[in-house]
This record gives sequence, structure tokens and C-alpha cells, in this order.
Amino acid sequence: MHPLTWISDARKHKSSAQHHTARYSLTYMCRIYFAMLKSSYWRFVKFFIVAGVLTLFVNILLKKKAPRKTTPSPLSQELYKVISPESYKYVFNQASACKDRTPFLVLMVPVAPSDGLSRAAIRKTWGAPGLMPNVDILTLFYVGLPEEGHHSHIQQDLERESREHGDIIQMDFQDHYQNLTIKTMMIMNWLATHCQEASYAMKVDTDIFVNVFYLVNRLLVGGGSVRHEYITGSVISDGRPRRDSNSKWRLSKDVYPEDTFPPYVSGAGYVFSIDLAHRISLASRFVRPIPLEDVFVGMCLKELGIRPVYAQTFLPPRNLFEIRRLDYKRCTYATRVIVTGFKPQELVEIWGDFQKGHLAC
Ligand SMILES: *[C@@H]1O[C@H](CO)[C@@H](O)[C@H](O)[C@H]1NC(C)=O
Repeated sequence: MHPLTWISDARKHKSSAQHHTARYSLTYMCRIYFAMLKSSYWRFVKFFIVAGVLTLFVNILLKKKAPRKTTPSPLSQELYKVISPESYKYVFNQASACKDRTPFLVLMVPVAPSDGLSRAAIRKTWGAPGLMPNVDILTLFYVGLPEEGHHSHIQQDLERESREHGDIIQMDFQDHYQNLTIKTMMIMNWLATHCQEASYAMKVDTDIFVNVFYLVNRLLVGGGSVRHEYITGSVISDGRPRRDSNSKWRLSKDVYPEDTFPPYVSGAGYVFSIDLAHRISLASRFVRPIPLEDVFVGMCLKELGIRPVYAQTFLPPRNLFEIRRLDYKRCTYATRVIVTGFKPQELVEIWGDFQKGHLAC
């Protein structure tokens, strides 16, 4: 045998032996691998089926529970009566305010009957008719009955003022801060009944500076086509009921059993698409009334599955609805929608300067 042949033979042999071992172990490993795969495959399948079914259940449970946590069915007649529009009558109703016009924005201002000073200041400032020549904005004031009654001089003054300006709506519930929820629901009902063709409405308090220009140009028109199911303002998402008995805003566990409030927009001022007036009115049949009007609106929104949108800019980060008092600087105010905390006279003074120069900011 040629030594080389032997070597090559040995090589051949060796390699074949190697090959054999390799093939053997490969098959073996494959078998183990497939066996493992098979058992863990089933374990995986089982795991996913169980997980899937569980997720589905949890989802169904949450979805069923989430929108209606507090009250699963319509309120009793007795509870709903308090905020039902059928319980009250108009003393004056500006029923034709939207008859020959289609406001882009309706500013709805709840105000005490005796607070003629605030109404006068608002008519001279952000509520002035024709403030923006190309945008139809309607300002209306909403009052209940003065504590002093139907025949008081407050009521007589109010009637004179209403005849003169045609911008006061009055309904015959007692005007009181504890009744602000009634007032807000009457506002919603009025909008849904008499001004459905408007695009947006804003509920805004009397002590507020409203930069209508920024609101209309940047937030509403700048946002593109008219929105629906839209409500924006300063969103409070970590609100809790106060249980201390000496708080003006105390809520007992009977009236509000849960420990947290749903997200809501601060009542100082919030803006919503007009469709929500009707929808919030409908939802209010399912939500137990509480005297905090803005929280109550939040509860109605939760019932409707609508989340309020936080009005803010990111660069620079700022709240567009400022619910604290900011020192007046024309250009600071030019980039906010509302600023809070004004007396009527202050509002008039600031407005003069603001209107002159805010466009130059
Ligand atoms: C709220 O209004 C109702 C209906 O007019 C009245 O009965 C009730 O006394 C008012 N609440 C307060 C605190 O004035």
C-alpha cells in the first residue's frame, strides 16, 4: 500500500467516522430539539390562549365598567328634577338671539343678578359686539332669580338692563353659588335648543380676562375644520372631593362616594364644540348632581367617553387657560386664552392697552 494511499485512506476513514458521528449527533439533537419544541410549543400555545382569554375578559369588564362607574342607570325623577330644564321657566329668554345669525362662538357668562358692574365691563371688553369684524361672536349673560325676590329693585334693574342690551337670559331658579350646576345645565340646554348652528361655545366666569383673538385665530380657526366632541381648557386630572365639614366645597360620601374626580376642565373658562351642549344635557340624566359645576361636567364627559383636551403649548411650555393671576404684560397676555382674577374696573383698564397693541407681540 502506498503510504500516501494509507494516509488518504485513513483520512477517508477518519472523516467518514467524523461524518458519521456528526450526522448521528445532528439527528439526535434535532430529535431532542423538536421534542423540546413540541412540548414548549404547546406550552406556548396554551399560555397564549389563556393570556388572550384573560385579556379579553379584563377588557370586557373594564369597557363595561369604565364609562358608567357612578350611576349605571338614569337618575330617579326626584334627583333629576333638580337639574332638569323642565323644572324651571324663563323670565327672559333671548330665544331669537341666533335666529338671523350663525355665531362662530357663543360666550356664555354665568353671573349674579346683582352684578351689573361685571356685565358692563364685559360688554366694553372681550364681550363687546363686533369685536372681530370677520367673526360672528355672541355674548350672553345667564342669571337665576335674585335672593331678594321677584319684586326687588335688583330684579327691576335687571329687567331694564335686559331690555336695553337684549343679552340677558334669566330662569326662575334661585341664583346661588350652590346652584351653579343648575345654571350650567340650563346654559347647555339653551345652546342645544336655541343656537345649535353655532360652531363653538365658551362658558366663562365674570372675573376673567378672555383673549378672544387668540382663542378664535389660534385655537379654533387655527385648529382646522370645526371640531366635534371637543372640549378644552385647563384640565384637572387629579381632583379629589373634600370631606372636611367646614369646606365650602364639601361633598359627603352619600352625594359622591368615589375618592377621585374624573378629569375635568376648570370652570373659570372652558371652550367646547356646540354638539356637546346637547350631549352633556343627555348625559346629565345619568349623573347624580353635585354643586361643583365643572366636576359635574367632567362626570358627564366620562359618561360620554369624551376626554377634555388640555389647552397648552409645548414650546415654550405654557397653559393657555391660566387659572391664576399673571402680572399684566401685554405680550404675556397675548399668548393666553384666559387669565383669572379681575375686578370689573381692572378688566376695562387692561383691555384698553391690550387691544391697542397685542397684534404687535
Ligand atoms: C337652588 O335652586 C332651587 C330652585 O330654585 C332652590 O330651591 C334652592 O334653594 C337653591 N339653592 C340654594 C342654595 O339657594
